[in-house]
Amino acid sequence: MTHLTVFHEDDPELPELATGDPVVLVGHLAMSGILFERWSATRPVADGADSDAILDAYAPDVARLCASRGYRSVDVARVPPGAANAAALRAMFLDEHTHGEDEARFFAAGSGAFYLHLDHRVFRIICEAGDLLSIPGGTRHWFDMGPNPDFTAIRFFTHPDGWRADPTGSGIAARFPAYDGSTVHPG
Ligand SMILES: [Fe+2]
Repeated sequence: MTHLTVFHEDDPELPELATGDPVVLVGHLAMSGILFERWSATRPVADGADSDAILDAYAPDVARLCASRGYRSVDVARVPPGAANAAALRAMFLDEHTHGEDEARFFAAGSGAFYLHLDHRVFRIICEAGDLLSIPGGTRHWFDMGPNPDFTAIRFFTHPDGWRADPTGSGIAARFPAYDGSTVHPG
């Protein structure tokens, strides 16, 4: 279940909000300028479908998002279960950082947790299959794919050649609960 937890940046122990209600989740994120949507495939997508089949199944929403946000290219990123480099991959995104452009991801399968550091708060959004999240450029954030990563995501780029992470060096990510990979959450 997609889930949002909101913490004050100084209190990772006691959340101010924890909800799996999609209306509440979308509303809270929208108030902070974060786009979240639920997408449905236009046709069945088989397990192990290739990138073209995944992009084709979500083509109308992909085209709409690209047009509305100015994204100029897309790809499909996969981390399969049991990947030999899972720990190293997980570690790559665990520290707070920013990008010069949006980080927009659609989860076609699997799950992962984004942590957005906004206005003295940390928003943890556990994304699962069917979830689209677009994080505006410049937003402080980190991503935890969990101890046993398993996801397939469509990525959207404005300038794919210039995609890079700028670490903030804040150390805040280590103070907040890691994502354990669970898809069942209270609230
Ligand atoms: Fe990022």
